[in-house]
Amino acid sequence: MDIRTETIQLFKDRFQQEPLLVRSPGRINLIGEHTDYNGGFVLPAATDKAVYIALGRSNDGKCHWYAADFQDEFTTTLDVLEHSPKNWPNYLMGVIQQLQMMGHQIPAFNCVISGDVPAGAGMSSSAALECATGWGLSQLFDLKIERLDLVRLAQRAENQFVGLQCGIMDMFASTFGKQHQVIRLDCRSLEYEYFPLELGDYQVVLFDTGVKHSLASSEYNNRRKECEAGVKLLQQHEPHVESLRDVTEEMLLKYQRQFDPVVFVRCMYVVQENNRLLAGCEDLKRGDIDSFGQRMYGSHNGLRDMYEVSCAELDYLVSFMKTEKNVLGARMMGGGFGGCTINIIKRTAVDELFERLSKAYQIAMKHELKMYKVLIEDGTSQIN
Ligand code: GLA
Repeated sequence: MDIRTETIQLFKDRFQQEPLLVRSPGRINLIGEHTDYNGGFVLPAATDKAVYIALGRSNDGKCHWYAADFQDEFTTTLDVLEHSPKNWPNYLMGVIQQLQMMGHQIPAFNCVISGDVPAGAGMSSSAALECATGWGLSQLFDLKIERLDLVRLAQRAENQFVGLQCGIMDMFASTFGKQHQVIRLDCRSLEYEYFPLELGDYQVVLFDTGVKHSLASSEYNNRRKECEAGVKLLQQHEPHVESLRDVTEEMLLKYQRQFDPVVFVRCMYVVQENNRLLAGCEDLKRGDIDSFGQRMYGSHNGLRDMYEVSCAELDYLVSFMKTEKNVLGARMMGGGFGGCTINIIKRTAVDELFERLSKAYQIAMKHELKMYKVLIEDGTSQIN
């Protein structure tokens, strides 16, 4: 049984009712990391790996939710929303809280959640769950939420209820994704452009380190603060600076001596990553994927040495790729401290390479390596 049919069946078995089903995908990001919350650019796409939520009205005044992958249930009313130690219900409650704050009345509802976005892989299963929930409730209760409002409310849910100060990229990619297209998103104006990812004989492959270091969320919030400190300092001299988006390398160098050295190097990374992304988009438009691949390595070096969000496992995988003739580019993807690398590899070489890499990785890092050959698919939608 495929995952859609299975999710619907699970719902029917539990609630003796026909549900509506919403799919919201996990994302990849080709280049432009830790730029979204700095008003910069990102280049994500929605994938074939997704979260599915089957929903229907409840008739006993309570919400009954079931997370199929954890075989775990949760029951609540919607008048007081309290943080749950179970974690997964917080993503739903965060979204409901935002809808309520927007003035929507949300009646009790039942749902079954399922999916094939690998957890902890840095493909943003949490954003996918938030977007799926928001879209599902909008369909079920006819709330007429626009896509951009969905993105924004899902981000606020994560910031305010879940507590991660993430940017807008994950929700945007999950909601606005388009088959075969990457999205160049300007995170300041929210203007965006789709363009086809034409890789010819090459394909996008993710390697999953199988680790998620506990530093991830605290360091993430720290990086945000470091960037804010940099902006604050620059504003004393250059009042037009609102975010690192308005900053150039020259400007940073001019005031370097006033900077805390760590803050300086964080800001420099962000400025350079934005430039790399813009140049990388030109590469793609010209069909120069060799040059794009080199920029991916550049992005990884910056994330490792300047932004310091990589880890031994990610570095191992990227270093291995550098010596492979069938690989054009590789880098860590997402927030860092574990999760996946994203790689551009010759189609015919992928399986043989994975075999060698996973053996070497197992010996060096003592973890099992997983591989996902991702396809680029449409964003959030109702599918029945
Ligand atoms: C996480 C966040 C995103 C983004 C990336 C880093 O995935 O949720 O908003 O900041 O890290 O690029």
